[in-house]
Amino acid sequence: MANVIVIGSQWGDEGKGKLVDILAEKASLVVRFQGGNNAGHTVMFGDQKFILHLIPSGITQPNCRCVLGNGMVIDPEALLEELQMLKDLNIKTEGRLFVSDSAHLIMPYHKLIDQAREDRLRDNKIGTTVRGIGPAYEDKVSRQGIRFIDIENNAEFKAHLDQIVEDKNRYLKYILEHTGPFLDPNEVFEKLLQAHRAIAPFVIDSQALMQTATAANENILLEGAQGTFLDIDHGTFPFVTSSNTTAGGACTGSGLAPGKVDQVLGVVKAYTTRVGAGPFPTELFDQTGEHLSQVGREFGATTGRPRRCGWFDTCMLKNSVELNGMTGLALTKLDVLDQLPTLKLCVAYADSKGNRLTRLPHQGNEQEKLTPIYEEMPGWQQSTQGITTYEELPPEAKNYLSKISELLSVPIAMISTGPKREETIILSHPFV
Ligand code: GDP
Ligand code: IMO
Ligand code: MG
Repeated sequence: MANVIVIGSQWGDEGKGKLVDILAEKASLVVRFQGGNNAGHTVMFGDQKFILHLIPSGITQPNCRCVLGNGMVIDPEALLEELQMLKDLNIKTEGRLFVSDSAHLIMPYHKLIDQAREDRLRDNKIGTTVRGIGPAYEDKVSRQGIRFIDIENNAEFKAHLDQIVEDKNRYLKYILEHTGPFLDPNEVFEKLLQAHRAIAPFVIDSQALMQTATAANENILLEGAQGTFLDIDHGTFPFVTSSNTTAGGACTGSGLAPGKVDQVLGVVKAYTTRVGAGPFPTELFDQTGEHLSQVGREFGATTGRPRRCGWFDTCMLKNSVELNGMTGLALTKLDVLDQLPTLKLCVAYADSKGNRLTRLPHQGNEQEKLTPIYEEMPGWQQSTQGITTYEELPPEAKNYLSKISELLSVPIAMISTGPKREETIILSHPFV
């Protein structure tokens, strides 16, 4: 038995979906613990490729049950769309997919507020996914949010919701200078009830489920979304998402007790990408950046926006390893580096005064001014695509991996050499 947290180690899109899909074969329960449909987790097997935004990537493994945990914010309409997508793919969800009764809802006003705020920020946009994530978490923290357990078809709940909708319309109009359209409280209520009727059979007390599963020594996988540097506390604030994406958040967002965590696997790309605004010290604006973008097909799985690309940043990763207590790394997209003659690893930064730093400073304007200090390594300039054993890797690729593992003081447990399930080297399986 083992309980494993899978975390994004950078700014998201590291390949968590692919890894969770593989690992879930040996898990009996996969729980998403934070975020909402801002996530886009790509899963590919056989001829099938699909993107999950809310439902854990373990849903592909028929013997695995999946939970949308209490720490998530869930747009009921997005969930219904995803359920339909899985139905079309003949993936069964009845009896094996559960939604925590304590998860908060993303309501239509959250999406409007997210968009209106971004519009007002103009040149200083966060670059959110405009899925209503931040406003939904705000309502949770200010105790005005609606959980699945709170939805009722009665006059009292209707009056409560009417009041919220009225307040949000006023906030949109007078504070955010939104010019319309505004929400009709009756319509919001009716649509919510309609969606809830379809989702209600999946809603459970997830805390009870977690306790039964731990008592039975089941293998539990906690699936993270986004990445460490998008964490509301530890990320590059304010260019972050509104939840705790790091390992600490996995326990609060799922109800698994911290003492029950056995391993933390950090998923990390062989280079770095970021979608949306915010500092990115190793970002490339040259041909190499373009090469990574094209070969790595770096376009957002949720919004389709191009992802910014840059070299691997060992300073950030060292911080990520320590912050999450990572016991192993799953390094993805090694094959994307195949054609490059020289690779660079950022090992320190020079700040605006010329000081050498090995950690990102917390002030945003200082983060923007860092100059990365690189160590160069020779590339391998041959294909690693689809390689499944470590021995087959070219010596330069092995050196690149060893250097990363040595600098970060953490073993590499898995290496991904292509988007498909089988294009993976498993050095140590967290559930075995
Ligand atoms: P997630 O959000 O962390 O689940 O990652 P995304 O699905 O948003 O982005 C990862 C992308 O890289 C997806 O398109 C995957 O199919 C793809 N991918 C994952 N691992 C590999 C790999 O090892 N090599 C290549 N070339 N693509 C990969
Ligand atoms: P996965 O799980 C990459 C980014 C957005 C924006 C910031 C805040 O696929 O790795 P939000 O809508 O959350 O308020 O936006 O966070 N972001 C992601 N970037 N991958 C993700 O998820 C992301 N989810 C949010 O681009 O910069
Ligand atoms: Mg993604």
